Amino acid sequence: MKHIAILTSGGDAPGMNAAIRAVVRTSIYHKLEISGVYQGYQGLIDDELEPLIARSVANIVQRGGTMLRSARCQAFYEAEGRAKAAETLHARAIDGLVVIGGDGSFRGGHFLGQEHGIPVVGIPGTIDNDIAGTDVTIGFYTAMDIALEAIDRLRDTAASHDRLFLVEVMGRSAGHIALHVGVAGGAEAIMIPEAPMSIASLSTLLTDAEQRGKSSSIIVVAEGAYEGGATALAKAIQDSIGMDMRVTILGHIQRGGSPCTKDRVLASRLGYAAVKALLSGRRDVMVGLRNQEVVHVPLQETWQNSKGINHELVELARVLAI
Ligand code: F6P
Repeated sequence: MKHIAILTSGGDAPGMNAAIRAVVRTSIYHKLEISGVYQGYQGLIDDELEPLIARSVANIVQRGGTMLRSARCQAFYEAEGRAKAAETLHARAIDGLVVIGGDGSFRGGHFLGQEHGIPVVGIPGTIDNDIAGTDVTIGFYTAMDIALEAIDRLRDTAASHDRLFLVEVMGRSAGHIALHVGVAGGAEAIMIPEAPMSIASLSTLLTDAEQRGKSSSIIVVAEGAYEGGATALAKAIQDSIGMDMRVTILGHIQRGGSPCTKDRVLASRLGYAAVKALLSGRRDVMVGLRNQEVVHVPLQETWQNSKGINHELVELARVLAI
């Protein structure tokens, strides 16, 4: 192992730069050449690489986003696209690849390794925290802090106007962000794909809360929990019980901003561990965190298994909302 490359793929996440910094500096510490790939897998196909030195990653640990930029690359789902990427890696005598991304990115990396013999190690970088095999993914903590701050702000105005607010958070088809910030924000209800709630039961919950004297409520909605998201859900509730409400869709602000302490430490640990894994001959694995310990998880398990939801939190949220 003399020369490795690093790329970021899929939705960006706060902390990706801290991971890039850790990969670059650990590589240099171990006398490896390190090249950065721009625009994710598309950059591999288009040969958009440049050598990185320790100074290349100066002053980025605190910055959101990814200095290597990212992309969702459809071409990489095809063997032809992966073959072009492999040509780039072979032409540049690159012996190993670190992929920071989500399960879709790991799928591409897995097949690149299988088809072209390139050692690939994944680092879980997505705010969704929907990757099996690791307790947490880079960006999850920061995205939750951003969403929670918004929910606390909305609670002020909801209480001032006796209003019901629906707050939609990201998470793609998972409800981890919604569940945690719903509990932390004291939501009256949390809508997540893993624990669906009917309009009828949600309407009953809201009218009961009103009868118990609750003059305002916050409902946290995971974007994948209801067809059409919070906007459609608000209309369904209005049609059902005529309650006036407002909808706030947080969207991509959950992906921006400076990463929090926990994301920076997580990213630094996993970036360091990814290089050590390649140096020790590991390939086709993701470095993850389980019970605060770094683990190596076969890439296939990251998308073949699904990460369950914390049902204790689901029950807790219901009880504490009385
Ligand atoms: O996977 C991260 C994520 O932010 C999801 O939570 C969200 O559904 C998706 O990316 C949005 O994708 P895009 O940034 O391509 O609009």
